Amino acid sequence: MHHFHYRDNHMFCEDVPVLEIAENVGTPFYLYSHATLRRHFLTFQNAFEGVPHLICFSAKSNSNLAVLRLFASLGGGLDIVSGGELFRGLQAGIPPERIVYSGVGKREDEIEYALQSGIMMFNIESFQELELINRCGARLKKKAPIALRVNPDVDPRTHPYISTGLKQEKFGLGMESAAEAYRSATAFPHVEVIGVSCHIGSQVTEVAPFVDAIHRIKVLITTLESFGISISYLDIGGGLGITYDQESPPHPNEYGRAISEALGDSSFTLVLEPGRVIVGNAGILVTRVLYTKKGEAKDFVIVDAAMNDLVRPSLYDAYHAIEPVVRDHKETMRADVVGPICESADFFAKDRDIPCVEAGDLLTVMSAGAYGFTMSSNYNSRPRVPEVMVKKDQFYVVRARESYEDLIKGESIPPFL
Ligand code: LLP
Repeated sequence: MHHFHYRDNHMFCEDVPVLEIAENVGTPFYLYSHATLRRHFLTFQNAFEGVPHLICFSAKSNSNLAVLRLFASLGGGLDIVSGGELFRGLQAGIPPERIVYSGVGKREDEIEYALQSGIMMFNIESFQELELINRCGARLKKKAPIALRVNPDVDPRTHPYISTGLKQEKFGLGMESAAEAYRSATAFPHVEVIGVSCHIGSQVTEVAPFVDAIHRIKVLITTLESFGISISYLDIGGGLGITYDQESPPHPNEYGRAISEALGDSSFTLVLEPGRVIVGNAGILVTRVLYTKKGEAKDFVIVDAAMNDLVRPSLYDAYHAIEPVVRDHKETMRADVVGPICESADFFAKDRDIPCVEAGDLLTVMSAGAYGFTMSSNYNSRPRVPEVMVKKDQFYVVRARESYEDLIKGESIPPFL
């Protein structure tokens, strides 16, 4: 459930008309609802009541400082994959001891930054990374708390680009090699083995793959215990899907119940890394129609947002609902909703029935709170759009629109030119 709704045919975010924000900040812009973010976080958290757990929100899905600060204030931690995400998390006030660091390609400087900051756990994805982290620990005279990320080889039945838990993926260590890797890890003096981690994929719309993964990992943990290695944290990653169109993913309560049952009466703390399920439907992208164009084969609605602002349709052929900001019950039209970028992949919808619109009308691309702004770029030298957060009847610009000056920041022309 989210807080974008119509009152007298005008779309509101909580108690603020979207039209009013558009008039103030211009278009395009991302818009987040504070009440929705809060509700989704708490619903997810409550789904694990009774199980010792920590929710490390996945920064890659939405890393705006205001969003991260909200989750920090609700007791959340952070799942990071880069030094930049660590910096954001710390700036937002996430305590370092609630930060987990995943990713197949951590650089030495990033590892040192995280070690110095005192994060909770590194999720190690290769033997070479383990060796490097041990060397960094020795240099800094610290013991790095680690989990090995294992690849449970379950099929999450999602888009191939966002499936990560199969044998053929670059992520994690295979189940067969994991036990041996753990044994070697305990021999490194500057690492401390504290957990097991995994992440099977994203936009997963059933509980079975998560449950299968837990069962497989429990077998591994039993083997580890027989080696005398005890595990305090089981990090099962993120991945729970949301409704973009017709999908009916499990409610977090169903997900929580299934996972708690699969865990049984184990003694470790569960770590979760949800991203999309918390922020996806808490944000939208608001854009203005620039032109309508009758082509020879089809009709086009050309808007001022583009694939550089929201790349999901271009990259994954992802579906996002398109809604009018002012619903005035005109006829519908079938059209491609496209942006101004010079690529045929620059579209938000293809052959979509949408209400008849004219130049100047406002449209919203729904469910854009996850992997929206964070995947945006400056392609075609388009300044990145602002992010706005609404709380009740107030709105706050939580990231300003970039200027043309921002576009060339850091560039210089060498003296020979
Ligand atoms: N933990 C790890 C280690 C991850 O790699 C990811 C996402 C998550 C947690 C959070 O997953 P979530 O709960 O959001 O599904 N750009 C794609 C999604 C890529 C997901 C990558 N990893 C999209 O727009 O659909």
